[in-house]
Amino acid sequence: MSISTSAVAESISGATKLAGVIGDPVRHSLSPRIHNAAYEATGLDWRFLAFPVAAGDAGGALDAMRALSIEGLSVTMPHKEAVAERVDELMPAAAALASVNCVRREGSRLIGDSTDGIGFVRSLEADLGRSIADASVAIVGAGGAARSIVDAVARAGAARIVVVNRTASAAERAASLAPIATVGSAADVADVDIVVNTTSVGMAGGPAPESSPIAIDLLRPAHVVADIVYQPKETPLLAAASAIGAETVGGLGMLVQQAAVAFEWWTGLRAPVEAMTAAVAVSDG
Ligand code: ATR
Repeated sequence: MSISTSAVAESISGATKLAGVIGDPVRHSLSPRIHNAAYEATGLDWRFLAFPVAAGDAGGALDAMRALSIEGLSVTMPHKEAVAERVDELMPAAAALASVNCVRREGSRLIGDSTDGIGFVRSLEADLGRSIADASVAIVGAGGAARSIVDAVARAGAARIVVVNRTASAAERAASLAPIATVGSAADVADVDIVVNTTSVGMAGGPAPESSPIAIDLLRPAHVVADIVYQPKETPLLAAASAIGAETVGGLGMLVQQAAVAFEWWTGLRAPVEAMTAAVAVSDG
């Protein structure tokens, strides 16, 4: 009698390495698609899974990472701060933000980093084909994503950052991350090179586009307008900016590039960004 094996059974062995993402909710995460596409493109014998981990259980997940020799973990809501408190070492961005979205295991030692901000900068610079050093940047919104972008844009050598947010205390907290950052008002968008929306306005199913804190009539053709929202691929903000001739940068690149930074940190290989992008290409609408 012959034994037939499936492609999965043939492709996973005792030597296969594991990485994953912890969060709650996490079943909708695009990280498994992005990372598994990268393993396939590079021929790495790794697999990436999504692990639902309830609030309060981040410590258990990190113990499991050590016990099971999981090579890398991505970290999403609600664990970013808890993981930052529990790893053995923090990289500079994670230390500044007190937030971790990426853990690397070196033996039993766990190191945390925050790759969202650098992912945004890499995506922006790749799309523009130029460095953002010396640029002036308005960051609209002041949540976790905005904070990571303030930190990374400052590290990338921007000349000036203005944080614009409806809640002043959050704006102050975000601006305090970088000496070149200040709190501004909605009108300041007119006077910068690059405008970044980090709020969920424009996201499919999110707040109404009319509630956007970015006034379209302040935008000029010389502006670069970036949105971290990636669903839809072209948000109402980007469509309006495009219509007046401004350069636009969508949010899918940040999603892919933060994963690319994690992939490179975990594996030591150059990330196959094209394959990772193809794995999550979303249609408009
Ligand atoms: P994340 O961690 O993903 O960045 P968040 O912490 O929920 O998400 O942050 C969302 C940011 O978008 C906040 O700064 C929020 O403003 P407040 O600090 O005033 O709450 C901002 N935001 C969300 N919806 C908004 C809206 N309709 N208009 C203006 N700002 C909005």
